[in-house]
Amino acid sequence: MSATVVCTIAELRQSLCEARRQGRRIGCVPTMGALHAGHASLIQRARADTDVVVVTIFVNPIQFDRREDYERYARNLDADRALCESLGVDLIFAPSVEEMYPRSPATFVESPRLAEHLCGSFRPGHFRGVATVVAKLFNMVQPDVAYFGEKDAQQLAIIEHMVEDLNFPVTIVRVATVREPDGLALSSRNQRLSPEERAQAPALYAALCEARRLLLSGERSAVRLRRAVLDHLSRYPLIRPEYVEVVDRQMQPVEEVRSTVRIAAAIWLGDTRLIDNLECPLP
Ligand code: PAF
Repeated sequence: MSATVVCTIAELRQSLCEARRQGRRIGCVPTMGALHAGHASLIQRARADTDVVVVTIFVNPIQFDRREDYERYARNLDADRALCESLGVDLIFAPSVEEMYPRSPATFVESPRLAEHLCGSFRPGHFRGVATVVAKLFNMVQPDVAYFGEKDAQQLAIIEHMVEDLNFPVTIVRVATVREPDGLALSSRNQRLSPEERAQAPALYAALCEARRLLLSGERSAVRLRRAVLDHLSRYPLIRPEYVEVVDRQMQPVEEVRSTVRIAAAIWLGDTRLIDNLECPLP
């Protein structure tokens, strides 16, 4: 089945107008391309739930805090299109930077409280860029449902709050992180790892699992849970931890675990930054 690729907002609106008139449900999977099995699981979910599946592919310059990260971000529209077609996507929206930002934007969406910790404190402006582009994409596609992966838990929390606070008529669906057999969370950044870095990368998930195991066996101190993650990571000489946090549903660090928390971490391997997190419900 072939997916139509459109690059302008006018073509996108035109392509969806008949479906909307017929009352068909539109599902949207916003991506930056370099699609992998993690994106495939979002698309499959959208395909199962909705009548018309739109995948957006746009490497959003305003969410990158480092210019070289933006420039190095993998781009391969042909491969992305082939994957989308194999999964039955109806429409791919792949706009240019000029189409999305014809002039320097004067309006942004910000969630200061939710962006204060975790990745937000190390990537200035990142979540402002994410929330702004997702708001724009929602206004362009006007989906009934949109799908996001739990690997980017802070991003997901910010988008959920944005939708509620600004009354977007969109249902947000959370989709579980897809992992390699050794536990490494799928990410387009994984392909940048050297073989040596790739061999150590699964330690991130293993460290989070170790902290969850401690929590399940009764540990309630966030300091000790973070220490367990850092101790595990310290066995891997190529890994440089950036942060390890135990946070509540509002992405606020807790000192003592009293209800469901998320243990989240970011590490560097060479010049590649990886993130992961695990939700830990109390037994
Ligand atoms: O998760 C991503 O790929 C991006 O942050 C998103 C949500 C598509 C916004 O550019």
